Amino acid sequence: MTFSRPALCSSVFPTSCVSACSLVALAFVTGVLLPSPCQAQDAAVQPAAEERAASTESEARPADETANEQKPKEKARKSYLGRVVAKPMSHLGASWLVRPERDQEENASESFQKLDLKPGMVLCDLGCGNGYWTLPMARKVGEEGAVYAVDIQPQMLQKLRQRADQFGLKNIRPVLGTIDDPKLPENEIDLLLMVDVYHEFSHPQSMLWEIRRSLTPTGVVALLEYRKEDPSVPIKLLHKMSKRQIMKEYQANGFKLVREYNELPWQHLMFFARDDSPLEAIEPEPTDQVLKRIGTAAAQ
Ligand SMILES: C[S@@+](CC[C@H](N)C(=O)[O-])C[C@H]1O[C@@H](n2cnc3c(N)ncnc32)[C@H](O)[C@@H]1O
Repeated sequence: MTFSRPALCSSVFPTSCVSACSLVALAFVTGVLLPSPCQAQDAAVQPAAEERAASTESEARPADETANEQKPKEKARKSYLGRVVAKPMSHLGASWLVRPERDQEENASESFQKLDLKPGMVLCDLGCGNGYWTLPMARKVGEEGAVYAVDIQPQMLQKLRQRADQFGLKNIRPVLGTIDDPKLPENEIDLLLMVDVYHEFSHPQSMLWEIRRSLTPTGVVALLEYRKEDPSVPIKLLHKMSKRQIMKEYQANGFKLVREYNELPWQHLMFFARDDSPLEAIEPEPTDQVLKRIGTAAAQ
């Protein structure tokens, strides 16, 4: 089944009754979206903060050294491998996640198609929020499949349950995770989606250790993060990631890149498998090349 944009908006992602203006205001409250003057200020501060963070941390270890280790004992981090960790978005801004214009801005329908979901698959929407992605995922895998919907904010799961009930979806399993454990079963997940979530993890190594353990040998992580390399993406810098940084963090934690989709307006879409997976590793396409091709402001 193909999810056309109208189908996503009208039946699976019903539009909220909140006006566009109040949704933008909510985004400012949650600190994800910034008007350009603040964004410029943020951009000036950010590199220095990252350099400081990088100088206090050790470099990434090769993936094969981490693959079979015990779960790392990790304290809450302010930064990881040179990247400053963002604060989780509050449930008070949940309406922004289901704003009517989201599909058009991010081309969520196209990302959804690229996930290549099939009936019967076992999925996880990690950091599911109020379920913008969880609901179409549940529809796609059908009753013989399942979607673990994990979040650390019970209020987000409550909103997700309400939306799932509204559409009569019975194959969603809400899970209240913790900051260092998504509480997933071992070796069961065919695809684990993280949309605009990973950069908020205060315990990225612990989370990646648990995620790796939850995947089947051919299972993949589908990671969507706003492109840090593109200044025209109107999102606060702390909530963006560069492809280079993503590669550094995932390779250091026992993952390899197996697929990517570089045609989205705002985001990287990267697929990672366990480094012992039979899936073949690929090299990432450099983002400057991508931006030139798709013609965003950063390329000019
Ligand atoms: C920006 S929202 C994105 C929600 C959803 N993925 C979407 O695209 O609509 C990020 C969500 O990740 C959740 N989150 C942050 N850290 C988490 C963690 N360690 N485990 C699970 N969820 C987490 C937050 O509570 C928040 O609901």
